[in-house]
Amino acid sequence: MGLGQRTERANGLIVAIDGPSGAGKSTITRRLAERFSYVYIDTGAMYRTLALAVSRAGVSGDDDNRVIEICRGAKLSYSGANGLPRITLDNEDVADLIRTPEISLLTSKIASKKAVRELLLHKQREMGKEGGVILEGRDIGTVVFPDADVKFFLSASAEERGRRRYLELKAKGVPVDLENTVAEVLARDRQDESRDHAPLKQAEDAMAIDSTSLSIDEVVAVMAGVIEKRLAQALPSSCGGND
Ligand code: DC
Repeated sequence: MGLGQRTERANGLIVAIDGPSGAGKSTITRRLAERFSYVYIDTGAMYRTLALAVSRAGVSGDDDNRVIEICRGAKLSYSGANGLPRITLDNEDVADLIRTPEISLLTSKIASKKAVRELLLHKQREMGKEGGVILEGRDIGTVVFPDADVKFFLSASAEERGRRRYLELKAKGVPVDLENTVAEVLARDRQDESRDHAPLKQAEDAMAIDSTSLSIDEVVAVMAGVIEKRLAQALPSSCGGND
C-alpha cells in the first residue's frame, strides 16, 4: 500500500469514481492510483472488452441471448497495479481496439443488460474487496461498492466532454468530427442514465466535482486531499494513543 497507511481493509481504501464519459475519469483515476500505489480498475474497459467480443462474433447488440452467451464465454483478464491497466481478450492486449466510437456505442448497449452487468459485478467485487484500489465507472459507488471508503462523482458539461473526446480521438489518428462526437456523448449519456439496471447516478454520499473549467491537476489535487484525509482517519488507533 502507498504512503505506509493502514486501514480496516487489508490493502487500503476502496475509492470509487463515477461519472459520465469524457469527464476526465480515466486520466484522473490513473494519476491517483499511481500517487497512492493503488490498483487502478477501469470498469468501462471491462465492458468495452466484452463489447469487442460481441462485435468480433458478428452478433447484434440487440440479440440478448447471444450477447450473454458470448460474454459468459469471453476470456477477459484485467490487471492494474500502480495505475497501469492491462486488459486482454483471449490473451490479446485489446487496450487500443476497445476505444473506437463503434465499440463505445455497442458497449453502452450491452452494459444495459442485467446478465452482462452481473458477470462483471462479481469480477469487480472480487478484485477490489481487499482495498488498495481505485475503481472508475458508472455504478461503483451505488452498486459495486456502496460501502466504498471514498466516493466521487466527476462530471463536466456535455459540450466540454464531447470536445475532450474529439481531441483524444483526433490525436490517435481516428477520423472524427466534433459535432458527431458531442452527439455520441449525449446519446451514451442518455443510454447510461436511462437503463433499468445500475444506471449512471450519483451516490448520495459521493462528493460531486464539476471538471468543466478545472485542469486535470486541479481535480487530482482536490481528490488526493480527500483521500489523504480519509487515510489519516483510518490510521490505527495506536496513533490516537488508546491501543
Ligand atoms: O468509461 P467508459 O467510457 O470506458 O465506459 C464505456 C461504457 O461502459 C459506457 O457507455 C458506460 C458503460 N459502463 C457501465 O455501464 N458501467 C461501468 N461501471 C463502466 C462503464
